[in-house]
Amino acid sequence: MMKRLLVTGGAGFIGSNFVRYVVQAHPAVHVTVLDKLTYAGNRANLAGLPAERVRLVVGDVCDAQLVDRLVQQTDAVVHYAAESHNDNSLIDPAPFIQTNIVGTYTLLQACRQYGVRYHQISTDEVYGDLPLNNEAKFTPTSPYQPSSPYSASKASADMLVRAWVRSFGLRATISNCSNNYGPYQYVEKFIPRQITNILSGRRPKLYGSGANVRDWIYTADHSRAVWDILTRGTLGETYLIGANGEHSNREVLGMILRLMDQPADAFDWVRDRPGHDRRYAIDATKLRTELGWRPQYRDFEQGLRQTIAWYRDHRAWWQGSKATVEAKYAQHHQ
Ligand code: NAD
Ligand code: DAU
Repeated sequence: MMKRLLVTGGAGFIGSNFVRYVVQAHPAVHVTVLDKLTYAGNRANLAGLPAERVRLVVGDVCDAQLVDRLVQQTDAVVHYAAESHNDNSLIDPAPFIQTNIVGTYTLLQACRQYGVRYHQISTDEVYGDLPLNNEAKFTPTSPYQPSSPYSASKASADMLVRAWVRSFGLRATISNCSNNYGPYQYVEKFIPRQITNILSGRRPKLYGSGANVRDWIYTADHSRAVWDILTRGTLGETYLIGANGEHSNREVLGMILRLMDQPADAFDWVRDRPGHDRRYAIDATKLRTELGWRPQYRDFEQGLRQTIAWYRDHRAWWQGSKATVEAKYAQHHQ
């Protein structure tokens, strides 16, 4: 039984949604969050959760002593902590190499020493990209072909996990998920950036031609999939998580503008991201057939509407970081 979970990066976007899911759906589980509270981590993401169920430890996943102590006290580690933004990795890859690779190594060593179950949260970006206007999808046997420093660091971390499984018998699984959206996503990312641009009187920004496709999944569906893999997945296996949510960036921005009563052309085209992946698409057959997982949020427009409402209702949550994020984008012409 997994009564004690160590969730790294649990004060970030997807990690905090997972912690909220566990608290609500699995009352016997106690969660320790290990989070460095970087620019993307926020105590407020865990606000309102019961103190007897959730403990926040502020610290670094690269701190071997701290990790050693926390891993000894847990039944399983779910590793979300990462530097997560592609654009940042193009400006300065250093923290990506440190946190995403060395941090994963540090956790793997501790889990190996204490025989603790480990789950690696990874991304579909490790598989590179797919052609536009094509039916191909990523599967668990697709070759690793990362394009950016971020995705290369995540691919490196996944490779370490696979090696620790094979060489040391680590009890581990990996999941590679597509693009998440929903509450608590930091305003540097595409969907919350555009919503909060409109809410703060700025114009949305579309990179390049806007034809790039992402496969969107509501973050609550990701949380349930991770729980299913953690508790019922086959050790040593990789599971792809996706909800058949493919849309071009132009389409997504069009929906946001419409749902927020803006004219269809009320946005700026900006310089493209270097090395910009064209398309991601997930084949989640293994997760569906082996573990019976199904997404509950199947209507993307409805999910967007809910997400827009959340940002409208939580202005205090994002307002403080908005100007800093936009100043950084302006400095890099985006
Ligand atoms: P995020 O940037 O919102 O959150 C990352 C969290 O990790 C923050 O709370 C931050 O403080 C913490 N962190 C960073 N460095 C740390 C360190 N050295 N030690 C401890 N904590 C540290 O990221 P996110 O979008 O929530 O992504 C979480 C995970 O999910 C990442 O591993 C990412 O690669 C993966 N993922 C993200 C997506 C997506 O669409 N956002 C999709 C698939 C997979
Ligand atoms: O696929 C999973 C990945 O999804 C995760 O591993 C990453 O952590 C997560 O950040 C996300 O990566 P992307 O690069 O796809 O997400 P981002 O929100 O940065 O951008 C989504 C798309 O929108 C991408 O094609 C670039 C484009 N874009 C982004 C921004 C910020 C714009 O057109 N305008 C923007 O202002």
